[in-house]
Amino acid sequence: MCGIVAATSNRDISQDLVRMLRCLDYRGYDSAGISVFGADNTIDLRKKAGPLSDLEELLAEKPVMGHSGIGHTRWATHGAPSDENAHPHMSSDGRVSVVHNGIIENYRDLINDLEAVGVECVSQTDSEVLAHIVSLFLKANPGASGKDIVKHLCRKVSGAYAIAILRTDKPDEVIGIRHQCPMNFVCTDGLAAISSDISSLIEYSRDIQVLKDGQAVVMTPNHHDVFDLEGNPGSSVHVVADWSVDKVEKDGFDHFLRKEISQEPEALAAFIKSAASNGEDLQAFLAERDIRKVVFLACGSASYSGVFGSIFARHLGLPMDISSEIGSEFRYLPPHVDKHTLMVAVSQSGETADSIGALEHAKSAGASVLAFVNVVGSSIDRLADMSVRLAAGPEVAVPSTKAVVNQFAASSLIISLLADKSPNSVTLWAQKCGQLAEAIAAIIAREDELITIAEKVAGHQSSFALGRGLDFAVSQEMALKLKETAYMHCEPMFAGEFKHGSISLIEYGMPVFCFVSDKSVRRKSISNIEEIKARGAQPVIFDASLEEDPDLKALGDYFNIPALGDPWSSIALLAVTHLVAYHSGLLRNTNVDRPRNLAKSVTVE
Ligand code: M6R
Repeated sequence: MCGIVAATSNRDISQDLVRMLRCLDYRGYDSAGISVFGADNTIDLRKKAGPLSDLEELLAEKPVMGHSGIGHTRWATHGAPSDENAHPHMSSDGRVSVVHNGIIENYRDLINDLEAVGVECVSQTDSEVLAHIVSLFLKANPGASGKDIVKHLCRKVSGAYAIAILRTDKPDEVIGIRHQCPMNFVCTDGLAAISSDISSLIEYSRDIQVLKDGQAVVMTPNHHDVFDLEGNPGSSVHVVADWSVDKVEKDGFDHFLRKEISQEPEALAAFIKSAASNGEDLQAFLAERDIRKVVFLACGSASYSGVFGSIFARHLGLPMDISSEIGSEFRYLPPHVDKHTLMVAVSQSGETADSIGALEHAKSAGASVLAFVNVVGSSIDRLADMSVRLAAGPEVAVPSTKAVVNQFAASSLIISLLADKSPNSVTLWAQKCGQLAEAIAAIIAREDELITIAEKVAGHQSSFALGRGLDFAVSQEMALKLKETAYMHCEPMFAGEFKHGSISLIEYGMPVFCFVSDKSVRRKSISNIEEIKARGAQPVIFDASLEEDPDLKALGDYFNIPALGDPWSSIALLAVTHLVAYHSGLLRNTNVDRPRNLAKSVTVE
C-alpha cells in the first residue's frame, strides 16, 4: 500500500508535502516521512514510525525547508514499521532519495547485486534498493537525464510500483514513475506536484493529469515531460476534478467510527436520492446489454454486499447466473467471463488493487463493468463503464460502516432492476429502501441495549456468527467487524453448515451471534439455534419480527428490529453488527478508528 507525493516549486514546499500526505493517511499509517532539497544543497530527511502526527511533531522540532521534495505514508509490507524502514530512503552517498508504493518483487536479487559492489542496505524494505540503483547509475553516467534514470531503473526492477525520486544533481526536478500503482500530477503556475491520490492535488488545480500505467513524468516547477518506461513520448489522461474534499472532523463524537455509524441513516437517504435520480441511466445501461451473467466483485466487507446480492437474486428467482467473487482470487482462477457478463465491482475507496486487477481482467475478456464506488474520481470509478455513486460521504475510520450499508443497498438496487425492467422499478425500490433508513435510525437509538450485548461478549476471544440465506452476508459482516474493530476472532458460517464440524468448538458460554431475519429460512434458523444452545453456547439472537418472539427470547440474548421484510431487514441488521463491534472494541481498548496492521484502502495485491 502506501501513499506517495512529490512537489517542486519556486517556494518552500515542505508544508505542502505534509498537507498532501494528510489526504493519503488512509493508504497507510505505520510511518511517514519527507525529504527536501535544502538550502545547504543537500537532501534533508525527516521520517518517523507511527502516524503522520508523529512526523509533524518531529518537523516542529526539526523543521526542514526546500523548493523540491518527496513524501510517503507507509503500510508496511517488507520490514516492520520502524523509523529505519520508513520512507523516504536515501542512497549511501546522500545524493538520491526515493519513495515507493507497491512491491519490488526481485529486491533480494537486487540487494545481492548491490552487495557485490559494496553497497549495503540499512533497512529491511524492498524499496531502499531503488535509491542505490539510481545513485550508482548517476555515478557511472554523470549528467544522466530523468528519462535515462527511469529507463535504467525500470529495466532492473520487477513488481508493482509507483516511485518518486529526488536527486541533488537536478534539485528542481522530481521524477514520478507509474507501474501498476496509481500516480497523478498537476502543473500550475510555479508549482508541480505528484500524488497517489487526486484528493491531495485538488488544492492546487482541478486540472488533474492521470499517468497511464507504464508511464513516467519528469517535472520542474514550470515544465513536465511524460513518456513511457522505455522513454517514448506519451500523454497522460486529463481529468477535471469536479468534487471537493470535505473537511473531516469528529463532530463531537469520540471516534470517526461512531460518527460514521450515526451517519448511516442520512448516508442511505443520500444514496436513495442519488440512485433514484440516476435510475433511468442505470436502466438504460442494463437494457443496452445482453446480460446473461452477473459477477459481483469486491474485497472484505464490500464483498459481502455481493454475497447478499447473489442470494437476493435467488429470492427473486432471477433466471441468471449470479455469483460473488473475491478480488484477490479472480485474476488467477477466473470464472468464465465474456461480453454477456456484467461485472459489478464494489469498492468504497475505488482504489483496492485486487479489485482493480480483477476489473481489468474482466474488461479485457469483454465484460461490461458497473462500479459501486464511494470515492468519485477513484481508479475504479474511472475504469468502469458506468458508476453508481454510493454517496455515503467521506469515510475516515478504517472499518467501513456507512459505505457498507450503501453497498448492500446498491446490490439490492441492481438485482431489483434486473428482475423488474418496468419504468417504475427504481421508484418501487426507493420506496421499499426508504423505510430502511428509519429502521437503522431506530436501531442506533437503542445503542444501550447493544452496549449490554457487547459487555457480555467482549471478554471472549472466540465466537461464531451464523445466518442462513440473506443473513449469511450479515454474519460475515459481524465477523469481520469484530476482528478488525475489537481484535476478537469470529467465524461466519451458514447456520445449517455449522453442525457439519464446527459445532465441535462450542464450549459452555461461547457467544454465537445468530441472525434470523431471512423469513424464507426462519424455522430452519431457529432449529440451528436450538442445536447450539443444547450444547452450551450463549446465543446472541438478532431478529426482525413484527413482535418479539418469546421462544427465541428464551434461547439467549435477544434483540429484535422492526420487520421490514426480505431483503431489507438484513441490511438494517448491519447497523447492529457495527454498534456491537464498536462497543466491543471500546471495551477491549482497541484503536477502533485505526486498527493495527490495516489501512483504509488496500492498494497492493
Ligand atoms: O475500499 P474497498 O471497499 O474496496 O475496500 C474493501 C475492503 O478492503 C474493506 O471493505 C475492508 O474489508 C474494510 N476494512 C472493512 O471494514
